[in-house]
Amino acid sequence: MTSLDLSSIETPSVLIDHARLIGNIAWGQRTADTHHVKLRPHIKTHKSLHIARLQIEAGAVGITASKAEEALVFLNGGIKSVTVAYPQVAPVKVARLLAAALKNEAEVRFIADSPQGVQVLDNTAARHGGRVGVFLKIDVGLHRCGLQETDARLLPLVESIQKSRSLRFVGLLSHAGHAYGATDASQVRVIAEAECAVLNRVRCRLEAAGHAVVEVSVGATPTFLTSQSYEGITEVRPGNYVFLDQTVLRMGLAGPERVALSVLVSVVSANEDYLIIDAGSKALSSDLGAHGTGTPGGYGKAYPLSDYERHANGMPIVKLSEEHGFVRHEGRSLSVGARLRIIPNHACPVVNLAEGLVILKETELAAWPVDARGKVR
Ligand SMILES: Cc1ncc(COP(=O)(O)O)c(C=O)c1O
Repeated sequence: MTSLDLSSIETPSVLIDHARLIGNIAWGQRTADTHHVKLRPHIKTHKSLHIARLQIEAGAVGITASKAEEALVFLNGGIKSVTVAYPQVAPVKVARLLAAALKNEAEVRFIADSPQGVQVLDNTAARHGGRVGVFLKIDVGLHRCGLQETDARLLPLVESIQKSRSLRFVGLLSHAGHAYGATDASQVRVIAEAECAVLNRVRCRLEAAGHAVVEVSVGATPTFLTSQSYEGITEVRPGNYVFLDQTVLRMGLAGPERVALSVLVSVVSANEDYLIIDAGSKALSSDLGAHGTGTPGGYGKAYPLSDYERHANGMPIVKLSEEHGFVRHEGRSLSVGARLRIIPNHACPVVNLAEGLVILKETELAAWPVDARGKVR
């Protein structure tokens, strides 16, 4: 909670409540410690070196990144262990990552789910020397990347990694993003239990075939907020937990008092149905929720400043133009020029669209860059 005067901040701006951010980082580390798993947060949420360093200081073993360019920012920024949890199929990107890791005396690990992906890693790593760590990506229900546990290619793929003189098989990695489609915490827990069961079955099969599975890595904020299922898991990779957003509020997985990110906007016009605000899809993104999960309530909730801390009188943002948002005021009168704070549906794309973050500390404002903004290659 902050009592800072926000009137000097131009709109739209992304605000981060520093105390809540620190609280979420500490909660995440405590949760990982309690379940005896390592925490390797996904930095695609904040794209900030500052926040990554806070997570490492709190006890995180390294970070997870998705895109190669994004990972490079963090390797060059002094983070010593990075998992690139996105299939890298372009030799030039893999070579760049390996060179950056070498230069910065850091470790970079990859995932693969295809023979082509393993081949690219193998060929490129062979030119760099040393052995590069590779996870096999397992699909636990999102049906995005990863092999099904029953896929006949699974064992041969692990064997091909093991046979390579340039690669090292690290273990299994999954992302239960389909948990965002659950309607409540109990459904999320069922998904987390199923994820854990799939990974343990695959681990047992690989071990029976003589392959050591050192790491079993899971990670999604819904499961991290609710799960008690960590049997056989060695590492968690949540990203969104540092900020949280309207999606996890809608799902009932966290209370609004934990949400650290909001967007400060101004009312620029008003009509009988809507307050028109100065943030549209170019500030809030058009995301209805992670992985295309929809939100009947729209693109986020807007609060008058005086009601934000108690999360009272939230008004839905029901439509977006590029530079305008349509807030359904439901008869509440707010004058043009009034300011609102928005909890967006999905904090991660909002940060990627922002030039910087305005940090609300107890008695002062700070500005932190979004270091990996727009790094989507
Ligand atoms: C591979 C992978 N790991 C971890 C995460 C973090 O999940 P969340 O955004 O729910 O925190 C993501 C998010 O998309 C992901 O794709």
